[in-house]
Amino acid sequence: MYDDMDYPEPGRVERRAVGGGESARAGRLWWDGAADAYQAEHGDFLRDAGFVWSPEGVDEADVRLLGEVAGKRVLEIGCGAGQCGRWLRSQGVSEVVGFDLARRQLQHSRRLDEQTGHRLPAVQADAQRMPFATGSFDVVFSSFGAFPFVPAAETALAEAGRVLRPGGRFVFSVTHPIRWCFPDDPTKNGLTVKESYFDRRAYVEEDDAGRAVYVEHHHTVGDWLRGIVAAGLVFQDMVEPEWPEGNDQVWGGWGPVRGRMIPGTAIFSAVKPA
Ligand SMILES: C[S@@+](CC[C@H](N)C(=O)[O-])C[C@H]1O[C@@H](n2cnc3c(N)ncnc32)[C@H](O)[C@@H]1O
Repeated sequence: MYDDMDYPEPGRVERRAVGGGESARAGRLWWDGAADAYQAEHGDFLRDAGFVWSPEGVDEADVRLLGEVAGKRVLEIGCGAGQCGRWLRSQGVSEVVGFDLARRQLQHSRRLDEQTGHRLPAVQADAQRMPFATGSFDVVFSSFGAFPFVPAAETALAEAGRVLRPGGRFVFSVTHPIRWCFPDDPTKNGLTVKESYFDRRAYVEEDDAGRAVYVEHHHTVGDWLRGIVAAGLVFQDMVEPEWPEGNDQVWGGWGPVRGRMIPGTAIFSAVKPA
């Protein structure tokens, strides 16, 4: 199943504006190319049927940010291999559906379907335009799926709000916006401010022809909150997990050295008025 254990070669780094179409194309290409290496590297930490919100290891089994899920219809945005959805199946949800931009990530979801015997309905789609009816889910969530990769936070948030039924809950985790100021380095070298927090230009890696092959977007705390409110949702909480004792893993720019001093993750919770 793992054809290629290496991540795609990094491209030439630029900071520039990138629109929705170019971001989606780059995201699809990159995550298709990275899926094997990503699942091989992080699969044990994620667990085949486990629900972690972040590299800090915030576990839904402990924090219950989604509230009571038994009997509910749940949507996961940017589900990757669907580990979270499979854990929710063990919690008595009536249905959980996942979607992801990258076909290769969904093939890993199918692999876990076969390994665990729990089939998770999953489709290929873009969070900027969700192929689901308005008000069709009781709970919508995303664990680092899609939201760090969309240029217009308000567009994806509006879509999440649209597919949620009145009274439903929406929770999503993203890179903590403060991290944008620092080099993506898990050591002490990553503790010196190098970039402006206010610079919304995307981080882009380009191929030799100038095409984006990896894109990440920055939205400030205020941008996320305004997007939540504009989506017709009521903001409830922003969790900023501290790095816990006993977690020694380094995941990209996340790790114990910086994690004990600055937040690496933000988890936003909101509800749709009944
Ligand atoms: C960091 S992974 C997180 C996946 C999963 N929640 C996990 O913890 O492994 C980000 C996922 O978001 C997906 N993604 C990126 N942009 C997306 C978009 N615009 N719409 C849907 N999924 C997207 C990627 O393909 C990738 O599977």
